[in-house]
Amino acid sequence: MPSPPPAPAAALDFDDVPFRGIVEQSLAGVYVVLDERFMYANDRFAAMFGYPRDEFIGRRMVDCVTADSAAEVMRNYHRRVNGEVRAIHYQTQGLRKDGTVVHLELHASRVECRGRPALAGVALDITERVLAQEALRESSAQLQALAHRLTSAQEVERARLARDVHDLLGGMLSSAKFDVSRIVRRTAAPGQEELHGIASELVELLQETIVQARSISEGLHPAAIELLGLGAALRQMMDRYAARHEVEVAVRTPGERLALTVEVATQIYRIAQEALTNVSRHAQAGRVELTLAAEGGRYQLRLRDDGRGLAAVPRRPGSIGLFSMAERAREIGAELRVAAHPGGGTEVTLSGPLQTPPSRTAAEAKR
Ligand SMILES: Nc1ncnc2c1ncn2[C@@H]1O[C@H](COP(=O)(O)OP(=O)(O)OP(=O)(O)O)[C@@H](O)[C@H]1O
Ligand SMILES: [Mg+2]
Repeated sequence: MPSPPPAPAAALDFDDVPFRGIVEQSLAGVYVVLDERFMYANDRFAAMFGYPRDEFIGRRMVDCVTADSAAEVMRNYHRRVNGEVRAIHYQTQGLRKDGTVVHLELHASRVECRGRPALAGVALDITERVLAQEALRESSAQLQALAHRLTSAQEVERARLARDVHDLLGGMLSSAKFDVSRIVRRTAAPGQEELHGIASELVELLQETIVQARSISEGLHPAAIELLGLGAALRQMMDRYAARHEVEVAVRTPGERLALTVEVATQIYRIAQEALTNVSRHAQAGRVELTLAAEGGRYQLRLRDDGRGLAAVPRRPGSIGLFSMAERAREIGAELRVAAHPGGGTEVTLSGPLQTPPSRTAAEAKR
């Protein structure tokens, strides 16, 4: 039979605990400041500043922090010593013996020491964490700058391609159609039926190719955004989509043109275009609905499919579609949401501010 557990001993009294031993081996820095000087520090705290303990004790607090932090450190010290607040928890930058910076997290409160107000505190060296956060912030800022450059370079490249397809290819196709039309006219006489038939078919084929080239050019760089507005450009995009895919398409856009700059409208269009590409690639949808609306000074774009949903498709490593949508949204100060729709399928919503009309000048307001 197992022996019964020993009866619990009485809890230790405050005086029984060897606090000195605990403080001296603490993994955190422990210190006491009296009359603005470190009058006690454990080895750990002195080591954070690169000093042996004996050399550290007696140093002025203000000499142990960076010039930028000194004012705040002294203000916090006086607020506690004067009794304004009892304790403060904050981060600051200490100055090491070798002149390098140590990032510290401090928690210190007012105590009595030799009958005078003093501070007793605990410190953690958070340099690694702070440097890692800084590196992360920097690399995410660089990533954003890179993404911005990529999307704007892509826009310039697409515009160039669209112009080439429209002007060069479109122009050559129109000339070819013009010449073949002449052959059609010249072969209208009896006896040349075969040639006439071939030439007529060629004119039709060329006409179809001209329409296709225009549609490719428009997809690459939608001139309709500038000419007709975002709503019309999105309608055309959905029409082209319906012509190429076996899906039911529904589009609702406002009757009037929304107050958006061409740059913002182009970003919204690109987000919708990427979302639509995702529908055709991943969703296996039977119906796609696009809505553009404006209310209360904001626009809202919604693209919903009734397909198999985000969860059904494993995410391809290295895919950047959603990332580039998010980046474009960030650039125009819009909120993007890509989520499962409660009724099935996927819904992409984008919402952002409409351009505010320029405020009337005082002179105009008087009129
Ligand atoms: N409408 C959708 N229906 C179902 N799954 C979707 C839909 N849109 C996106 N997804 C899922 O989200 C993933 C990420 O989309 P994203 O556009 O970032 O990548 P991608 O389309 O796979 O590649 P790309 O980088 O060429 O765009 C897709 O791989 C897919 O699994
Ligand atoms: Mg994609």
